[in-house]
Amino acid sequence: MSVLWTAADLITATSGEMIRPFNANGVSIDSRNVAQGQLFIALVGENGDGHRFVAKALDNGAAGALVHAIPDGLENAPLLKVADTFDGLNALGRVSRARFTGRLAAVTGSVGKTTVKEMLRCILSAQGSTHAAEASYNNHWGVPLTLARMPQDARFAVNEIGMNHAGEIAPLARLARPHVAVVSTIGTAHIGHLGSAEAIADEKASIAAGLEPGGVLLLPADSPHFDRMRSATAARVESFGSATHATHRLLHAAPDADGTDLVLCVGGQELTLRLHAPGLHMASNALAALAAAHLMGADAAAGARALASFSPGAGRGARHDLKLPVGRITLLDESYNASTSAVRAALALLGMVPAPRRVAVLGDMLEMGDQGIAEHVSLAADIAAHADLLFTCGPLMRHLHDAIPPALRGAHAPDSASLAPLLLSALRDGDAVLVKGSLGSRMKTIVGAIEATASPSEFPKDMH
Ligand SMILES: Nc1ncnc2c1ncn2[C@@H]1O[C@H](COP(=O)(O)OP(=O)(O)OP(=O)(O)O)[C@@H](O)[C@H]1O
Ligand SMILES: [Mg+2]
Repeated sequence: MSVLWTAADLITATSGEMIRPFNANGVSIDSRNVAQGQLFIALVGENGDGHRFVAKALDNGAAGALVHAIPDGLENAPLLKVADTFDGLNALGRVSRARFTGRLAAVTGSVGKTTVKEMLRCILSAQGSTHAAEASYNNHWGVPLTLARMPQDARFAVNEIGMNHAGEIAPLARLARPHVAVVSTIGTAHIGHLGSAEAIADEKASIAAGLEPGGVLLLPADSPHFDRMRSATAARVESFGSATHATHRLLHAAPDADGTDLVLCVGGQELTLRLHAPGLHMASNALAALAAAHLMGADAAAGARALASFSPGAGRGARHDLKLPVGRITLLDESYNASTSAVRAALALLGMVPAPRRVAVLGDMLEMGDQGIAEHVSLAADIAAHADLLFTCGPLMRHLHDAIPPALRGAHAPDSASLAPLLLSALRDGDAVLVKGSLGSRMKTIVGAIEATASPSEFPKDMH
């Protein structure tokens, strides 16, 4: 494996002191899965002090470790000592970004960040070496880590930038210095912390603060906040969506249960493609990714061909046809995360599955503050339009359970573990079942419970 960080570069980047010189071929902040030859960074965080795991990381094959205190017994180990390891991680991210010669996109938004990032990876990697985080690394350690891992000669890189609180996006964007900054969607995720949809829009638009000179901010043209976001920046703005004013347009979409046939106009070029990821929200993500790839200098037509092989990941709309004791069911695993707009999109998708009965299984959407109850109740119309039966868990979903017509009520339980048996006993042959909720609502438990009763031969192992 090639050297990512030479000893000399590590010292220069961090202004640290190297106890025993080492080169690194990668960077890790988790001692459990540090790979051979990598630099282990001992961060201090919610899960404790990484300095306790330095010896273990070295045993596991780490080439060396970045520390701010030398652990006992490691006085002669390959260590790079700095004043603070978190600052050290950021310094590596900053220097890595400075030496990078390719084009970089950063993606933010209420939902769809990881999906757009993965679609960009799919598009770009067919046209040149592409670096993107393997997971949803979008916070104060995820962004610098993704940058620190970036090969300097990659042609393309994609960063995901997220937030929980106001003020978090701009500094991360300044670190990533994107050529293209994408806002995938403006929804009500994290409204609890930010107070209003306008405040969320302002926060997302602040990604423009990190744009490289001449960089482009790519906004969702159909958002009611489009004008507000556009006028908040002096940067060049382009947009994607169905609106006639959009720079990159969705001209036609024919969705069915398995995907969508699309006609798009990206960079003035008409593109047709079959997207094997169901739901119009996926079509919107695909348009955003193709427009961003075009703005990064990639070929949009080749990108559209590459996207034909894209499939959504586990928990993000992956579909399983399962054989249960009661018969065959279609499971839409959306258990990974939820916000009102994401649940609405998933319900619309459920409504398109050709099935005798459509069952929605929803857990609480978290971090909505005062708006929580109203946001949950607002889904009643979507349930009535797209589902035949609703199972809910969590104190907030109780309000949705109460708001829908009694005929649509399956069952309500305090948590996902107690809802699982109620759901399992109600399933019937042919059902289409959507499972969705915030990560903290642990809807994965329900997916697991359903899959545990499925015939093993039908179990799609590659997804788990
Ligand atoms: N454009 C969209 N509009 C509405 N819902 C979407 C859109 N894209 C994705 N979703 C929904 O949001 C869920 C999460 O998608 P994804 O992981 O791409 O979002 P994210 O922004 O990366 O989330 P996180 O903040 O957890 O990192 C998906 O399962 C899907 O249901
Ligand atoms: Mg994500």
